[in-house]
Amino acid sequence: MSTQSPLGTVVVLGYGNQGEAHARNLRDAGEQVRVAARPGLAAEARARAHGFEVAAPVQALQGADTLAVLLPDEVVPQAWPELAPHAGALKAVTFAHGFNLLYGSLEFARTTSVFLVSPTGPGRVVRELYEKGEGLPAYLAVHQDGAHDAWALATHYATSLGCARAQLLRTTVREETEIDLFGEQSVLCGGMNALVSAAFNTLVDAGYTPEVAYLECVHQLKYLAELLHARGVAGLRRGISGTALYGDLTRGPRVINERSREEMRAMLTEIRSGAFAHEWLAEVAAGKPTLMRLLSQGDADPIEAGRLRAVGGATPAAPPPGPGGAGAQSK
Ligand SMILES: NC(=O)c1ccc[n+]([C@@H]2O[C@H](COP(=O)([O-])OP(=O)(O)OC[C@H]3O[C@@H](n4cnc5c(N)ncnc54)[C@H](OP(=O)(O)O)[C@@H]3O)[C@@H](O)[C@H]2O)c1
Repeated sequence: MSTQSPLGTVVVLGYGNQGEAHARNLRDAGEQVRVAARPGLAAEARARAHGFEVAAPVQALQGADTLAVLLPDEVVPQAWPELAPHAGALKAVTFAHGFNLLYGSLEFARTTSVFLVSPTGPGRVVRELYEKGEGLPAYLAVHQDGAHDAWALATHYATSLGCARAQLLRTTVREETEIDLFGEQSVLCGGMNALVSAAFNTLVDAGYTPEVAYLECVHQLKYLAELLHARGVAGLRRGISGTALYGDLTRGPRVINERSREEMRAMLTEIRSGAFAHEWLAEVAAGKPTLMRLLSQGDADPIEAGRLRAVGGATPAAPPPGPGGAGAQSK
């Protein structure tokens, strides 16, 4: 084990969105890092090009002290049984999201500390901020306190990742997982995409020009999101015109109303009961037929034609989210 760090030799399993940022930040912070990746695939080549020692997952675990599991959540339940027999001597196992700690049936040696260090943003931003001497806030949670050192190890890992430069928030695995799933379903992905599509299609169905509708309902969102990020809801309201403000306060509640809130409560119940996780893992096991059908339907929505007319660019190749197909993803 390295004498400099309580984490010892860290194996970063998965060199994707989070894995690349974790491996590079930890190395720059002085940690001893090696990467575990499937031989012959893109992640392995990228990690080697960045100067890492890379080995296949089981081999990489030999002599390691800490394992950072940064695979797509849906592949962990299949990958873990092969790794578990080689993970018994690990001091620590860390995850960036609690999905598999809450819903999976992963088994760990009793002496291993298992914790969560979850940066509040995409890996690209974790890396960019680190290089600027800044950091993203991160959630920390302990799943299993193997040697009564889990909080200390989680804090050390998050500090090497650069997140202590911003804020480290202690939470539980359950809270991080449930809030993360609810946020992406109701606002950041599901809610936002459904909202802009419905608004765009309302205008186009009423005979308005698609590119104008696109610029208004989708393209401008970036500037308002930046204002929201910088100033919050009350601050945003003080940065828009009086007409926009009156429309916001009187019409917004007609779009998101008691019925929408009822659906939000139902979605939260599905998350808390594990029904959503069960449904998603069954979908993965079946080869993702529903996901692929809905993705194709979405690609055929008139909003895509509106986008091409308004801002140009190529039609999305639509790689399915998941292994190797989501290099730029932020959720
Ligand atoms: N994306 C985000 O912004 C974000 C934010 C916070 C937390 N998280 C969490 O971070 C974790 C990692 O997510 P991610 O988005 O970084 O993943 P990702 O980019 O989708 O993929 C990670 C890597 O895993 C490799 N991989 C896939 N299947 C594998 C297998 N069976 N064995 C070994 N390697 C495999 C892939 O490389 P190859 O196909 O080349 O092998 C890929 O590069 C998840 O728990 C996620 O919830 C993500």
